[in-house]
Amino acid sequence: MAGADLEAAAGEAGSAGAVDAAGAPGATRSPAEAAGTRPGGDPRALVEVRGLAIAAGSLVVQSGLDFDIHRGEVLVVMGPSGCGKSTLLRHLVGLERPVAGHVLYDGHDLHRGDPAELAALRRRFGVMFQAGALWSSMSLGENVMFPMRLFARLPAAERRRRARFKLALVGLDGGFDLMPAQLSGGMRKRAALARALALDPELLFLDEPGSGLDPLNAARLDELVLNLRHHLGTAVVMVTHENASIFAVADRALYLDPLAHTMTALGPPRELLAHGPAEVRAFLQRGVVA
Ligand SMILES: Nc1ncnc2c1ncn2[C@@H]1O[C@H](COP(=O)(O)OP(=O)(O)OP(=O)(O)O)[C@@H](O)[C@H]1O
Ligand SMILES: [Mg+2]
Repeated sequence: MAGADLEAAAGEAGSAGAVDAAGAPGATRSPAEAAGTRPGGDPRALVEVRGLAIAAGSLVVQSGLDFDIHRGEVLVVMGPSGCGKSTLLRHLVGLERPVAGHVLYDGHDLHRGDPAELAALRRRFGVMFQAGALWSSMSLGENVMFPMRLFARLPAAERRRRARFKLALVGLDGGFDLMPAQLSGGMRKRAALARALALDPELLFLDEPGSGLDPLNAARLDELVLNLRHHLGTAVVMVTHENASIFAVADRALYLDPLAHTMTALGPPRELLAHGPAEVRAFLQRGVVA
């Protein structure tokens, strides 16, 4: 395995996953939570972020983050390069511990508690990292089956069937035996998305899925994300700084300000464009011809 592959494997192994072999959600979820009726919580909230402060290395890049991720919504995390979007994503999937605050997933603190319970929670996420390379020594089918081999006890034939289905979902029907090197950039992104979907996550995290793609392929990927949400009901947290994507996919957008080091806006992007703080309006107006 090449270095980048190992890095991808380590990242994915720590976070890819979702439903167990029987197809049942993690055992940590009570019926009340499943129905979104946790006392005192917003019934729409799948994830509650409270007073979160996050660091990259020794640098606190964002603090005072308070927001919810709603069931079934597409929430975009936006802001200029370096504001901390990828860092926030790594904290939201439990790969890094916050400097302060909490991330509550169905009421369970993602960073504190019983390790087995935390692992079960994390298996309900699908993740596609910014540099989310496929494992180049494996075919597309093997790439998609890898998280299943790690986290789901399934017969080989069932793994293959599910992997073919996930590849078909992203428009790569018949791509099971192709190697990553045989694919275009857009196809590779879609295959990485299929791998993030391997275990039927209820929450999908995508870090710049359209980066490096031409506008047409980036738009196709946005459409695919919306289709997944529509057909599977998956909640999606998508990091991007591309305006076209923000307006195409986001139910709500969260703006991380690089100077204030905190979030300065959260809402539907068109509302933020019309009525948001000055820096957010300026950010959303980039490339718009008056
Ligand atoms: N491991 C690290 N050690 C020290 N600083 C880091 C580390 N990783 C990131 N940083 C710094 O933290 C800040 C936030 O980085 P991050 O990658 O989260 O930004 P981003 O918003 O995702 O940017 P981009 O849009 O370019 O992907 C940047 O200033 C970056 O230089
Ligand atoms: Mg980033």
